[in-house]
Amino acid sequence: MASSQDTILLTGANGGLGSAIVADFLKKPELAAYTGVYTVRKAAAATQLKAVLDAGPSSHKHEIIDLDLSSLASVRKTATEINRRVAAGELPPIKALILNAAYQDHEELNITPDGYEITWHVNYLANQLLALMLLQSMNKKNGRILVIGSWSHDIDDKRNTIGGEPYKGRATLFPSAEELAKGKWSTPADGDGWFTGYRRYGASKLCAVMLMHELANRLGKDPELSNITVVGLDPGAMGSDLTRRGSSSMQFNIKKLLPIMAYVAVKFSPNGSMRPLWKSAGDAVRLCFNVEAPKGKLLYLNGTDELETSKEARDAANRKSLWNYGLVAAGITQGDTVLRDWQ
Ligand SMILES: NC(=O)c1ccc[n+]([C@@H]2O[C@H](COP(=O)([O-])OP(=O)(O)OC[C@H]3O[C@@H](n4cnc5c(N)ncnc54)[C@H](OP(=O)(O)O)[C@@H]3O)[C@@H](O)[C@H]2O)c1
Ligand SMILES: *[C@@H]1O[C@H](CO)[C@@H](O)[C@H](O)[C@H]1NC(C)=O
Ligand SMILES: *[C@@H]1O[C@H](CO)[C@@H](O)[C@H](O)[C@H]1NC(C)=O
Ligand SMILES: *[C@@H]1O[C@H](CO)[C@@H](O)[C@H](O)[C@H]1NC(C)=O
Repeated sequence: MASSQDTILLTGANGGLGSAIVADFLKKPELAAYTGVYTVRKAAAATQLKAVLDAGPSSHKHEIIDLDLSSLASVRKTATEINRRVAAGELPPIKALILNAAYQDHEELNITPDGYEITWHVNYLANQLLALMLLQSMNKKNGRILVIGSWSHDIDDKRNTIGGEPYKGRATLFPSAEELAKGKWSTPADGDGWFTGYRRYGASKLCAVMLMHELANRLGKDPELSNITVVGLDPGAMGSDLTRRGSSSMQFNIKKLLPIMAYVAVKFSPNGSMRPLWKSAGDAVRLCFNVEAPKGKLLYLNGTDELETSKEARDAANRKSLWNYGLVAAGITQGDTVLRDWQ
């Protein structure tokens, strides 16, 4: 069976990087031949994605699906429906599952209706549940899971000091799964403005990187799923709407100034700190379709170059406690996943 008959599932498809990834598929006939399942928070409001799709070839099979990652019920509903359709042969198996959506707070701290701090819920918990549930619909021969990472996951990465020193005086981004999940850590009461939200974002990205390692390790040992690979991408800093909840000057810097600087910078240092959306979109697509990835081990790239994940992300005890906390928080049981070693 030709792989071009498979599905690509992308979350956050209406976002800056997400819609640039779709634009990249559409430029490449061999990728436009896949079926695109594009999840967005609200299909009716997905104007950026729709503009990209309208400009692409009309032969590209795709659908836009509502998925609210800040709701466990929404993740379950969407994953269950996709699993049903793949099992029924109505949708081809998933070759690439691209977990791209993310949320960032600045001065605020928000709790989801399920009771979790929203940054942690969207950037970590939703991805753990979605990935575990969708494994049954993945192409078992060559399926690939790509999770978008960030330099913010690494407390020792010097790039975190570009706009201030949010991690100054801090020894860890993983106080405990419970403190992150319940929004007890780095709260507005700490009094250092947007740094508090940035730290929670960095911590949630650290959890996402831990998830990449856990999935890679567990899949590698699975009798049925060992050919499914897990990769991660540090996309640098890009001008997107991710900082939409920040101050107006921050939004101006990120949305307006950064793309201009990145346009110049990418010519001199292609994987440097600032990257245009199209560059990171190309890196994401390359990592999904054109890079050999080892089985049973995470491949994490800084643009196109291999990068070691943070010391905290490689701590097996941290990872195990986060994984187990997530299982309980998302109410994951045996029937939710085909992964043998899910506990
Ligand atoms: N921009 C950067 O400098 C940068 C740096 C490092 C890593 N990254 C990573 O790159 C990825 C893409 O981010 P981006 O820069 O493209 O930001 P973006 O434009 O804000 O895109 C993020 C997408 O995630 C969606 N999302 C947020 N909360 C959601 C929820 N509860 N349910 C469903 N969808 C939700 C957003 O949907 P709505 O529009 O409906 O809110 C948005 O479409 C993220 O993983 C981010 O962490 C970005
Ligand atoms: C994984 O791929 C290898 C090489 O193509 C194959 O021999 C093996 O049977 C596959 N394993 C599974 C579980 O599909
Ligand atoms: C990412 O890649 C760029 C360009 O190759 C390099 O300058 C930068 O130091 C890398 N970042 C890290 C943390 O290795
Ligand atoms: C950075 O990215 C470019 C293009 O994406 C690639 O060709 C190059 O080898 C990468 N590494 C460095 C160190 O520039």
